[in-house]
Amino acid sequence: MNQEISVDKILQDLEKHIQRHSYGQSPQELYEPISYIMSLGGKRIRPLLTLMAYSLYKSDYQNIMNPASAVEVFHNFTLMHDDIMDDAPLRRGKATVHEKWNANTAILSGDVMLVKAYDMLLDIEPGKFWESIRLFNQTAAEVCEGQQHDMNFESQNSVTEEAYIDMIRQKTAVLLGFSLQFGAILADASIEDAQKLYDFGVNIGIGFQLKDDLLDVYADKDKFGKQVGGDIISNKKTFLLIKANELAEGDAKMKLEYWLEAKTFNKEEKVAAVTAIYDSLGIKSLTEAKMKAYFDKGFEQYAALEVPNKKIYISLLQLTQDLVHREK
Ligand code: IPE
Ligand code: IPE
Ligand code: MG
Ligand code: MG
Ligand code: MG
Repeated sequence: MNQEISVDKILQDLEKHIQRHSYGQSPQELYEPISYIMSLGGKRIRPLLTLMAYSLYKSDYQNIMNPASAVEVFHNFTLMHDDIMDDAPLRRGKATVHEKWNANTAILSGDVMLVKAYDMLLDIEPGKFWESIRLFNQTAAEVCEGQQHDMNFESQNSVTEEAYIDMIRQKTAVLLGFSLQFGAILADASIEDAQKLYDFGVNIGIGFQLKDDLLDVYADKDKFGKQVGGDIISNKKTFLLIKANELAEGDAKMKLEYWLEAKTFNKEEKVAAVTAIYDSLGIKSLTEAKMKAYFDKGFEQYAALEVPNKKIYISLLQLTQDLVHREK
């Protein structure tokens, strides 16, 4: 039985489940954006982590499809609102919901998505329900806290690396940690194993957001599916900008300050100019090194984990290692 489980099979089943699930019908204006964003694809990494973590211990992952998918619905809700907050035109290669419809639609459809995520969590076995919801709520609140820091930082010039890492831990990493921990809890793994998987997830999650920040500047536009340079346009305090602020001197410093303070500008010109400053300071390789350090820390923690299904153990490692080299 265990032999039949593979990442590809799990991902296929998950995609089918997400596409077949009914998120609601009427009024159409409320529900259509949900079907829209849920059908645009995406890596599905969070529910995949839940299903893989579960499969480290048990072979019947089909039984937790709804709770696992709830994590993806929650993630997509955060994206719908994040795209309003970040004034983002593109998501997964298509128009964002607030661009295709309008901001009010994206707000309300996003709100009801959160409710639909809770609906899917109702499938959690009663004995694991309370603890799962408690951890989910804690995670969801942290994501909002991280998002608020992210917004606050846009207009602050002196964001430290430490504050940045803590912000991305909250907005991004804890959800990856929770996804793994959740799978372990649903599979009756020990509290220690669930905690190890959480810690692993948080560290690769920090690496994951560092990679996202890198891609925002250096991705191949056609593969990325999001606007390249969006973070530069909005003065997002990414690791790249924080390091550039630290390292820039003389002419580069003056130029960087100019672009950070410019109120009206040509977006493409700003993106090109700030990218050139990053290039002159070697920011890309500095960020890659930081990203690698977090991934490696995560992999070290994962190495200390002993689980029944060795094949899935290797596959989960491979899956997370691939995140380092992702192009979208
Ligand atoms: C985007 O998440 C938001 C971040 C936390 C960086 P993903 O990179 O997982 O986006 P999708 O779901 O695959 O589109
Ligand atoms: C957002 O980070 C993380 C969320 C909690 C949604 P980003 O704003 O960098 O995510 P993208 O780049 O828009 O996907
Ligand atoms: Mg954002
Ligand atoms: Mg964004
Ligand atoms: Mg981003």
